[in-house]
Amino acid sequence: MPVVTILPSGNTAEAATGNSVLSALLSAGIDIAHKCDGKGECGSCHVFVQDGRKSLSRIQRAENEKLDTIVGVGSKSRLACQALLGEENVTVEVLSFV
Ligand code: FES
Repeated sequence: MPVVTILPSGNTAEAATGNSVLSALLSAGIDIAHKCDGKGECGSCHVFVQDGRKSLSRIQRAENEKLDTIVGVGSKSRLACQALLGEENVTVEVLSFV
């Protein structure tokens, strides 16, 4: 079971492989914005993956196109609702809170 380390708090949460980063964050009590409820349409769940990026599911075209519309996107950017956990631990930086 991968462990998600959440920045800036440094808290950690265990989550099942195949779950989204968003669901892991919400389960850990993190009030991350998720205006479209995980449909990949709003961009509000934008996070930076600081570690373990290769373990996450690959970015699909729709996610890439949405990321292109967000200010401040970088090479570590993912939509938390579209990034599915693999076997490895990941560290994500939450950028927007509810
Ligand atoms: S919750 Fe809207 S894009 Fe992730």
